[in-house]
Amino acid sequence: MRIVKCHNGNVSLVLKEVEDVSSQEIKCNTVDASFEKHVPQFVIKDHQVEIFVNHVMEGDHYIEWILVDYGKEQRIYSFLPGDTPKVEVEYREGMQAYSYCNKHSLWSTEKF
Ligand SMILES: [Fe+2]
Repeated sequence: MRIVKCHNGNVSLVLKEVEDVSSQEIKCNTVDASFEKHVPQFVIKDHQVEIFVNHVMEGDHYIEWILVDYGKEQRIYSFLPGDTPKVEVEYREGMQAYSYCNKHSLWSTEKF
């Protein structure tokens, strides 16, 4: 799975690969910012998993979305300032979670 940023600032999940020189893949966990406040945390509870980000949710600085990657299926949960960046979803072994901060870009867990 690849997430790219276009020259105009749009961030997109690549659903089909085509040659495109106008966008650049975003590397996870590479911005100089607090790892602990950006990487999704998770707690597995039987068949469910709670995924959350310990990040502020202020007007100009917040987690825009959490993406849950099941491999063949992805789900995106959007947030606004004031929301709690937390979701509870089905647990499937080998899944991965991403978060996107409007100031500090893309962060991800390892597969869990
Ligand atoms: Fe941030």
